[in-house]
Amino acid sequence: MSPLRSSTWWDDPGKAGFIARHHMRQLGLTRDQLRGKPVVGICNSWSELTPCNAHLRTLAESVRRGITAAGGLALEFPTMSIGEPLMRPTSMMFRNLMSMDVEETIRANPLDAVVLLGGCDKTLPAQLMGAASVDLPAIALSGGPMLTGRFRGKTVGSGTDIWKMSEDLRAKRITQDDFDEFEGCLARSAGHCMTMGTASTMGCLTEALGLSLPAAAALPAADARRAQLAEQSGARAVELAREGLRPSDILTRQAFTNAVVVNAAIGGSTNAVLHLLAIAGRVGVPLALDDIDEIGRRVPLLADLMPSGRFLMEDFAYAGGLPALMAELGDLVDLTAPTVTGRTLGENLAGHQVWDREVIRPLDNPVQSADNGTAVLRGNLAPGGAVLKQSAASPELLHHRGPALVFDSIEEYLRAADDPDLAVDADTVLVVRNLGPRGYPGMPELGNLPLPAKLLAQGVTDMVRISDARMSGTAYGTVVLHVAPEAAAGGPLALVRTGDTVELDVAARTLHLDVDPGELLARRTAWTPPPRPPQSERGWARLYVDRVLQADKGVDLDFLVGRSGDQPGKAPF
Ligand code: FES
Ligand code: MG
Repeated sequence: MSPLRSSTWWDDPGKAGFIARHHMRQLGLTRDQLRGKPVVGICNSWSELTPCNAHLRTLAESVRRGITAAGGLALEFPTMSIGEPLMRPTSMMFRNLMSMDVEETIRANPLDAVVLLGGCDKTLPAQLMGAASVDLPAIALSGGPMLTGRFRGKTVGSGTDIWKMSEDLRAKRITQDDFDEFEGCLARSAGHCMTMGTASTMGCLTEALGLSLPAAAALPAADARRAQLAEQSGARAVELAREGLRPSDILTRQAFTNAVVVNAAIGGSTNAVLHLLAIAGRVGVPLALDDIDEIGRRVPLLADLMPSGRFLMEDFAYAGGLPALMAELGDLVDLTAPTVTGRTLGENLAGHQVWDREVIRPLDNPVQSADNGTAVLRGNLAPGGAVLKQSAASPELLHHRGPALVFDSIEEYLRAADDPDLAVDADTVLVVRNLGPRGYPGMPELGNLPLPAKLLAQGVTDMVRISDARMSGTAYGTVVLHVAPEAAAGGPLALVRTGDTVELDVAARTLHLDVDPGELLARRTAWTPPPRPPQSERGWARLYVDRVLQADKGVDLDFLVGRSGDQPGKAPF
């Protein structure tokens, strides 16, 4: 075994070693604790501003127990946290900032390995991005999903049922009192959203990538087995430090292929596309937007989970969770992929089976057949690509031609949405722009635009919507998202006008603006870039807007792509 990285701090014979050691004595540590023990950081995104992660403080105690029992020294540290429900203008604007915090904190300190504790949508991706760039041995564990929501005898799911019930409220099918009661029933335990939204998706993909222990994705936050997983993750991190198994050994092309396959089989969030591209970019594995479509296309939807299906994460866990689903996928996943357990994915999956065939369906009787996952569209309206989640869309709209109704901002659209005289019908293609990474800024989850009240009153439940925004992983509808380049970056989305004909053909993977190329050129010549969004003149927002990459590149900052390694630089003393 090569010397521990942390020994560079502790074993320094001069002033730097003294300073490092004597301040550790403040923690009540004896000098023996600093001799020859792998130091495992517990990278904790606990915060009461991230209610989904609030229990990670307790979970960290289980991780600590595992590290100590395995002969390591546990040092817990906080990083920035990102809470979906509270952060404005949008949580996505801060993912890269958190990834920088994680990366720099890990690199700058005497750590030999790290346990990443995340949960809410952006937290695990940010941690994986940061850890991939440092490439220090790492294992991830999510806080786990909430228990199933129950409202008046019915199962209700995070996000998904909010979108449904708020439409019901707008259409006056339910009262405000009903809605208020529902509010208290939905998030009734610790944990992250328990639909297959972005948090659950990223938990599953982290496991599929091989970076967390088997079964880590689905077990509820409230289940004692999650605390046991935390203890095991801590113990495993100590071994990782000794073995020197690094994220780059695990995050191979095979791992990303497996993650894309799993994303299709679970009906995962469209946000996962951005996160996978960004993580691959950090570790230097070639993964292109089109790979998401090509690899995912041969995979049927097996998990019958909201928003694409009926059940919730708790049901998924009891049905066998992700190991059972991956075992069911058989040769569709690459079983030779290395994982954080030190074993291959195939070895990890041995003995796992499905216990509930309603929740995890067999390959020969899937929820939806192959080629119903996230489609990547291209055309003169999205030369850099766009995505559409087929399993959450209306089949009859997947090939659609209609007149565009265009809005330059979400505010402009929301003001018009309730107008009973709005010139809109079910064939209209709703276009809202300037919702991209630079334009909003931060690419908010607004792509599943609420339907105009006029159409709701007519009983219309879906229409084609196009934007450069994202959509919550818990949302649904025939919505074209992540249009690249975005309008604010001069993408053709900026050139569409109300009345232009737009054609969406998902089977052909095209998104076409039926306007003469000469006319488009004239519009482009007349186009001027919008000014920087308000509040983006200084600080993080300024850096973000100036350096953020487009959706087809994972919305990372251009200078964060790639690895930097674990060398901390010189001691200051
Ligand atoms: Fe945190 Fe949904 S709000 S996971
Ligand atoms: Mg979400």
